[in-house]
Amino acid sequence: MSFVIECENLVKVFKSKPPIRALDEVSIKVPRGCIFGLFGPNGAGKSTLISILIGLTLPTSGSAKVLGYDTLRESLEIRKRVGVLPEGFSFYDNLTALQNLKYLGMLDGIPPDEVEKTAIGILNKVGLADRVNTKVSKFSRGMKQKLGIAQALLKNPELLIFDEPTVGVDPEGVIQFREFIQSLVKDGKTIFLSTHLLRDLGVVCTHTAIIRRGKIVVQGSMEELTQKMKGVKGYGYEIHIKTGDVNRLAEELRKFPRIIEVRIEGINKLKAFSEEELGNEIFMLLSKGGYQVEAMVSLKPEWEDLYKFYSEVS
Ligand SMILES: Nc1ncnc2c1ncn2[C@@H]1O[C@H](COP(=O)(O)OP(=O)(O)OP(=O)(O)O)[C@@H](O)[C@H]1O
Ligand SMILES: [Mg+2]
Repeated sequence: MSFVIECENLVKVFKSKPPIRALDEVSIKVPRGCIFGLFGPNGAGKSTLISILIGLTLPTSGSAKVLGYDTLRESLEIRKRVGVLPEGFSFYDNLTALQNLKYLGMLDGIPPDEVEKTAIGILNKVGLADRVNTKVSKFSRGMKQKLGIAQALLKNPELLIFDEPTVGVDPEGVIQFREFIQSLVKDGKTIFLSTHLLRDLGVVCTHTAIIRRGKIVVQGSMEELTQKMKGVKGYGYEIHIKTGDVNRLAEELRKFPRIIEVRIEGINKLKAFSEEELGNEIFMLLSKGGYQVEAMVSLKPEWEDLYKFYSEVS
């Protein structure tokens, strides 16, 4: 497996009074081609980690590689190849969106005869097509955020690092952003993003790490984390019947040996939780018992469930 970001035992202590241990032995591996979400509350260390990855902050100890380049010795190589939306990115207010991007594009080394076309194409992609010639001083916060995302794409990088990309973006913009990063991944890119907005971005992440007080609480692919959580919290099923007595069905389910809980949720609906996978057994019970089934779904944990679960067990 090839990793685009690998860091090992990163420690960052800010020498303030008192000193702050912003990162505490952080080790992360980000596989190529994924959407990796770094989730954590305010002050958890997300921006500090990103700043180290792009070589703007030196770690107190530990090491990190981005696209195989060492963040201490080869940060220029990293910055050439990685598109970054840092925290608090700002533009020239008196220039238009296009002028800002053209300027930044030239700094990125895009040839002058290509830079305008590239910039306009990207402004279209991020939903700023109608603001190309508007001065940034007239932009709302969400529009500035979209422009920040646009500048990260200028050099067509294979890896994108976004710090809190949806802060200040409206719900429609968040949906567009999700679709947008999924399309980037289809084009072969990798996305590493940080956020405390689980609801906004959890659903599109294929991999995650949860960070709290500078420590990685858990990391892995969504499947791994979901599976691990099910092992403790159980497998859940929602059963909706058309005919038959829901109370009788609940009683029958409660007789299953590894059942944790059966909850009646309406005149013809219930939820059952078990320590093991029970899909087939439940099907058999329903057909033998003469129940007509409207729907039966396996309950997937929500992002909030995962976050809460791993924050509690750590
Ligand atoms: N330059 C600095 N000097 C001293 N302490 C700092 C500095 N930068 C960050 N910190 C501290 O390091 C810790 C981690 O901060 P960081 O900005 O990385 O958190 P974050 O997860 O990005 O939070 P947020 O969600 O609010 O952006 C915090 O306790 C913060 O106060
Ligand atoms: Mg931050």
